[in-house]
Formats: sequence, structure tokens, C-alpha cells
Amino acid sequence: MEKIVIEGGIRLEGEVEVSGAKNAALPIFTATLLAPGPFRLGNIPNLRDTVTIIKILESLGVKIEKLGEGEYEVDGTGLCGHETPYDLVKTMRASCLTLGPLLARTGKAKVSLPGGCAIGERPIDQHLKGLEALGAKIDISHGYVKASVDGRLKGARIIMDLVTVTGVMNIMMAATLAEGKTVIENAAREPEIVALAKFLTAMGAKINGAGSSIITIDGVESLHHVDFDNIPDRIEAGTFMAAAAITGGDITVTGVVHNDLHALTEKLKEAGCEITEAVKSVRVQGPDKIRPIHVTTAPFPGFPTDMQAQIMAVMALADGASIITETIFENRFMHVAELWRMGADITVNGSTSTVCGVRSLSGADVMATDLRASASLLLAGLAAKGVTRIDRIYHLQRGYERIERKLGSLGAIIRRE
Ligand code: EPZ
Repeated sequence: MEKIVIEGGIRLEGEVEVSGAKNAALPIFTATLLAPGPFRLGNIPNLRDTVTIIKILESLGVKIEKLGEGEYEVDGTGLCGHETPYDLVKTMRASCLTLGPLLARTGKAKVSLPGGCAIGERPIDQHLKGLEALGAKIDISHGYVKASVDGRLKGARIIMDLVTVTGVMNIMMAATLAEGKTVIENAAREPEIVALAKFLTAMGAKINGAGSSIITIDGVESLHHVDFDNIPDRIEAGTFMAAAAITGGDITVTGVVHNDLHALTEKLKEAGCEITEAVKSVRVQGPDKIRPIHVTTAPFPGFPTDMQAQIMAVMALADGASIITETIFENRFMHVAELWRMGADITVNGSTSTVCGVRSLSGADVMATDLRASASLLLAGLAAKGVTRIDRIYHLQRGYERIERKLGSLGAIIRRE
């Protein structure tokens, strides 16, 4: 099994460009199921998860051709399937984003229930509630969701019981071809939802309010293919910003959208970082002494849960005690036990962790348990004294493109073994 090996204790310096957003690329790929192709998609990151979503579309009869670095032609004209199989869904929950588009385009969809995940139960009841409100018949049997509708879906007013990113994405995609108006209330406001809405609008959909908690979709008869470039990955950007903080380095992250990073930027300033924003880049100078902070994760524009593990690694070296509260997922502290192995002093009490900063972390053999936990261990390894070996790095490869090369360009001594 491949490992990442890091020799820590080096201040990272230099410039690094972020790749396209994983969590926007995945729904944009499935949204191509709504219209015959060929689409041209740009700024798509080369990740395990994008490889998986491409496999899923190809299994449905979609033709996908790589045109160049990060660029694909996607042609669903020959769409012939409507089933997304378990063996693909179990490797990536976001596969359930085929549900809405397949239902709207073909009138039926059979998608494996995602099943559990390391960070939490993550049910899709809200996705199904929304699709039912649009007139879909939903059956769950043998681990699969079967959704069908006679004729067209019908627009409806849907009040989400809780804020769900992919739940809103599935419903919004289905509603674009429904008859009449759909209003989604209590909608998630993440930038990835705004990017998907922009893509759908370019395809001819009529959507208003994406990015706010009330999204209105006026259904149309059909949509058409377009060329579209994906947004940058705010979580990858945040991870490099955290690398500057934890190593006391000086990193300029380019290709970012400042508005997507404000919650993180404010917390890094509180922790003592010097932040300088230019047109499409942000410079982070880490402090000599990291100040402890309090962080509570929340839906956008709050502090992103996908940066919780990374900020915890930074706080492990703060000059005092930090409180980190995770409100989105019920089991997203699995990086704590691995950070303990590196000398971190963290106590977990339910959804709250108290991180008592230590003078230094020590390199150790650790194991990645999920995507962002592996990023947390990477950051800790960059700052730790000695060598850190991270096992099960397939978790990391799901969401970070060429991370060793990018960190190496900033001065890190890092290699794959
Ligand atoms: C998206 O997951 C992201 N993934 C996650 O990123 C991210 O952590 C999460 O949003 C929150 O921002 C993708 O976009 C592919 P949710 P999603 O539905 O949509 C509960 C990463 O690291 N819920 O917003 O699955 C759910 O259990 C990944 O890139 C229901 O109860 O998250 C969770 O507690 C990890 N019923 C909360 O809502 C539902 O029907 C938020 O989940 C749906 C969700």
C-alpha cells in the first residue's frame, strides 16, 4: 500500500495554484445527463473521485473523451442506462447525484443507496423527499433507490428539513426540466451550488437565488450542451493556507475566489497569520506563535466542515487551548487519534474537541481514515520534527491533485513510497 513520507520542520515558501473544485466538478458531470452532448468541461481536477464519476457516466452510455489537462468532452446523446451500481456508489457517495438528472431526463433512475461513510451516517432522505415532492415515485429495496415518474416532473415548493449541499443539487437538477415552478427553501448556499446553477443556466435552465437560502427554478422543456470551466477548489486552497500557518511559512495561493474563503481567512487572522489578498490570489504568512482560536463548523458562509481537520492540526501547535466544534457530521474527529500519535494534546467530548497546543509535534507512522483527515495528517507531518509516514493515502488522492508535487514546490521534503 502506497504511503506518503514527509520530513517535517521546514517553513514552506512560494506560490501554488489551486486545481478545479472537486465538489463542483462532480455535480457538473452528472448535470450533463440532462441534455444531449457534446459538452466541453474545463478545469476539472484529476482525482480519484472525478475518475469515478466518469466511470459512472460511461456505464450509463455517456461518451467521455479527455481533450487535454483537466479538459473533457462529454456526450450523453447515446444515454442508454438509468442504473448507478453499488460497486461504484460505495466508493463515492456523490454518485447519488445521478438520481435527479436521470429521473428528469429519462423518467426513471435506479441508484444504490450510498450506505455509511467514515464521517457519518449521511442519509439521503432529503434528496428523496424533494424528488417525491416533484412527483417522483420512490421505492427502496435491496439497497437501491428506484425513482420513476410518468411523464414530466411537476414543480413544487420544497422546504428542506436541514441544510444539505448535494440534496439541493439533486433537486435543483431535477427541477430544471419539471413542468412549472419549483421553490427550494432552507437551501444550502455553498459556492459549488452557485457554480452548478451557473452551468445549468448556461444550458438553458431558468434558476434564481442560487447562493441564497431560497432557490427558484422555472422548468423548461429541454436543455442544451455548453462549454463550461469549473470553479477553483476552496478547500484545497484552504489546505495550502493552513500549511503556511502551521509551518510559519509564506505561501501565495493563486486562482482563488476570496468570497469563498472569508470564514477561513478570518480564523487564520485570529490565529496570528498575515493575510494579503490580491486580485486572484491570497498570501498567507504564518506567525511565529500560533494564537489559539475557537471554531464552530457551519454551512456556508460559516466555517467549512471540510476545513475542520486541517485547522485542528494548526491549533495542535497553538500557544494555548482552542475549542473546535463540529456541527455538520457526527463522526468527523477520526484524525484526533492519529494526531495523538504525533504528540498532539486533544480531548474530544461529543461534537467538541479541546486542542491544547504543544511546543512541537513528532513525526510518526499514521493512518488516513477519510479525505480531510488525511489532509490534517499531511499538515501535521509538515510541521512535525522528524519523519511522518501516512498510510492509506487513497483517501487523500480522492480530493487532492498532485499534492506532493505542489507541496514539494513550496520546499516540503515529501515523497510517495
Ligand atoms: C457535501 O456533502 C460535500 N461533498 C462534503 O464534502 C461536505 O462536507 C458537505 O457537503 C458539507 O459541506 C460533496 O459535495 C460531494 P450534506 P453532502 O448533504 O452533500 C445530513 C469532502 O470532504 N443529511 O450537506 O453529502 C448529513 O448526514 C466532502 O469533499 C441528512 O440527514 O453533505 C450531514 O450530517 C465530505 N439527510 C448534513 O446533513 C440528507 O438527505 C450535511 O450533509 C442529506 C444530508
